Amino acid sequence: YQPVRIAPSILSADFMNLGADIAMIEAAGAGFVHIDVMDGHFVPNLTMGVPLLKQLKAATSLVCDVHLMIDNPLTEIPWFIDAGADLVNVHAEALTADELVCAVAMIHEAGCKAAAALKPKTPVSALDPVIDRLDMALVMSVEPGFSGQSYIAGSDRRVAEVAARARAAGNESMLIQVDGGIGEVTAPLVAAAGADVLVCGNAVFKAADPALALQTVQAVADV
Ligand code: DX5
Ligand code: ZN
Repeated sequence: YQPVRIAPSILSADFMNLGADIAMIEAAGAGFVHIDVMDGHFVPNLTMGVPLLKQLKAATSLVCDVHLMIDNPLTEIPWFIDAGADLVNVHAEALTADELVCAVAMIHEAGCKAAAALKPKTPVSALDPVIDRLDMALVMSVEPGFSGQSYIAGSDRRVAEVAARARAAGNESMLIQVDGGIGEVTAPLVAAAGADVLVCGNAVFKAADPALALQTVQAVADV
């Protein structure tokens, strides 16, 4: 049995004190650090990229989980791997089935872990071409683009569906990550459905006591 891991999204961190925020989540027991890369095309927002990842990687021992919300992942993957990504997360919607296979192969050949993400309305069958070899699948529980949105009800059913498809494909070790609106109330729902890694933006960084909030979300999910 593996405890649920928390992946705080630094999109909600204090950019003027990012180093302190990273040290705080590390000390509080975060599993991953989640880096939301948005290009202003695949999603309306424009956030962070390679230069930030490079400095972050040098400053932390946390697993750097890079969520690519961009139109051209095949071009950008090598850049993020060079910058220190441990886990590269590509969106199925940004790629054809053949390109998705190619992206996962490219990530694995570089020695990194590969994840594929689904927007809330994308059929889970979009992961079929790679579900037998993914290290992680990401079920979005909000429309990607912004932190601080509300969890879309029913996302936990999609988690269970992805878990069933991975099992059917013989991929017993694949992790399932959930991203969007996860906090004390929603964490137990998605964990019960089979989620292993919970991304938390606002629920951690906007809390009065972020370290306590991280540990509380983990504790309520871990039952
Ligand atoms: C949304 C991003 C999320 C987001 C999570 O597009 O992928 O990682 O920052 O933030 P919260 O937990 O506040 O929904
Ligand atoms: Zn994300």
